[in-house]
Amino acid sequence: MLKSYHYEGPLPLGSVVAHNCGAAGLFSNKVNPQVTLIGKEVARLYTLAVNVSGQEPFVIHGNVTSIGRRKMGQQLLAYLRGLQGLASYNEWGSLVGVRPTKLFHKYRDKAPDAASVANWIEAEFSVSPEKLGLLTDIGEFQRPYVDPNIIKDTLVSLYCGIPFCQTHCVYCSFPYGMWQNYGNHNGFIEALECDMDHMAHMVQEHELDVMSLYMGGGTPTILPDLEFERVLAKLSPLVPEGREFTVEAGRPDSVTPEKINTMVRHEVNRISINPQTMQDAILARIGRGHTAQDIDDLYQYVKRHTSLAVNMDFIAGLPEQTDRDMTENMDYICRSLPENVTIHTLALKKGSPLYESHMQQRLPNEEQVRHMVNVARERLETAGYRPYYLYRQQYMTGQLENIGYTLEGHACDYNIRMMEERQSVLSMGPGSSSKWMRAPEFRQKKQHMPKDVDVYIRTIEQLLDKRSALCKSFWEVV
Ligand SMILES: C[S@@+](CC[C@H](N)C(=O)[O-])C[C@H]1O[C@@H](n2cnc3c(N)ncnc32)[C@H](O)[C@@H]1O
Ligand code: SF4
Repeated sequence: MLKSYHYEGPLPLGSVVAHNCGAAGLFSNKVNPQVTLIGKEVARLYTLAVNVSGQEPFVIHGNVTSIGRRKMGQQLLAYLRGLQGLASYNEWGSLVGVRPTKLFHKYRDKAPDAASVANWIEAEFSVSPEKLGLLTDIGEFQRPYVDPNIIKDTLVSLYCGIPFCQTHCVYCSFPYGMWQNYGNHNGFIEALECDMDHMAHMVQEHELDVMSLYMGGGTPTILPDLEFERVLAKLSPLVPEGREFTVEAGRPDSVTPEKINTMVRHEVNRISINPQTMQDAILARIGRGHTAQDIDDLYQYVKRHTSLAVNMDFIAGLPEQTDRDMTENMDYICRSLPENVTIHTLALKKGSPLYESHMQQRLPNEEQVRHMVNVARERLETAGYRPYYLYRQQYMTGQLENIGYTLEGHACDYNIRMMEERQSVLSMGPGSSSKWMRAPEFRQKKQHMPKDVDVYIRTIEQLLDKRSALCKSFWEVV
């Protein structure tokens, strides 16, 4: 199998190379890459030379346009897959982007109906009828959330990120640190309080209409009771009555009845409780720090004592996970019926412990994972769930997808709007990103908060000044 590549050449072509090498399972690596790609631009024409040891160089030409780059990417993907004994494309064809529904909406804005968009996507990207059906179904469901004739500039989603966990799950590249190892808890909470106060000021000054607030991470519920209360007390007033307020409570080993009470008191209305899978041996293997029973205990507690809507995340493709395990997971879901379920396909991420681990040899293969994803879909649809949002990541097993399912009337507004990138998202906390977007182009202005918590604390005033300036330039030109 080919594992590594290195590219040199013009930047716009580099982005196409990165997407397609990623879709073929290759990671960027300067040191001893198995595939070297050299791009050149001469007289509005690109040339891309692909060198693999033992093979004649493969040369691709294309115009210096987005269509030219796309066609070159398609040839590159087919070539790299061919070298690995795979068919030119899988069921997603040559569609390698993270947000296929975003592409659907871009063309749906101008098309008379969904069928003509599906026909165009099929012709351009050779997507299978099954994936086209999924894309169209989800796309049409989402139209009221993303139709440029309906959405307003001042409609925003808010995000607050807590970049700490208590253990590092082997598949995850996310956490910036372990809460118990971090020395300046109070400095972090104080900086976050400034961030939240500033957000309240922005919402008021620009008369923003907050649709939803998502407190994610990391593991927000890792905060001790007092700090959790301090943060929720500042977030809650940002959410107008009746709007969506979600807290990621994915790790039951970090959630206490006191924290559930705090959430209810501050009018949180949705949480995530994330099994990933329901077999204790796998949970231990992937470093979750909780059992299947802990998941169910927390779920039963929440359903008995609160009216919170619950999402549950699962991953298909974990080390030594089988079809039977996925069937068992879905048996649990069909008995428990949480409002939302998200089925992820394992993505091998560079910053994750799994990337460096011998456990990689124990991962189920592409066909097995595809089967698990299909089992989940059939069981969920039979139980009354429908798919409502979709995204893909690089290095997913089989280049499949992640799908969010919902029972009727419970789709998560934040997930749809964040994924489709048609509404501004203002974010608080280290490592979070704000994006300002306006119809009809939905071009983005962005601000990234530093991932390093100490840098975030040290520079919070400058960061907030910059956010003020970006908000002013965006909303005051309307
Ligand atoms: C940002 S994580 C936060 C979830 C929360 N901290 C938890 O662990 O329950 C959101 C979800 O992404 C999924 N996820 C994270 N890393 C993944 C990977 N490498 N492959 C597939 N899914 C992944 C997991 O299902 C996880 O619950
Ligand atoms: S999956 Fe969740 S708990 Fe595990 S390391 Fe990633 S963010 Fe932390």
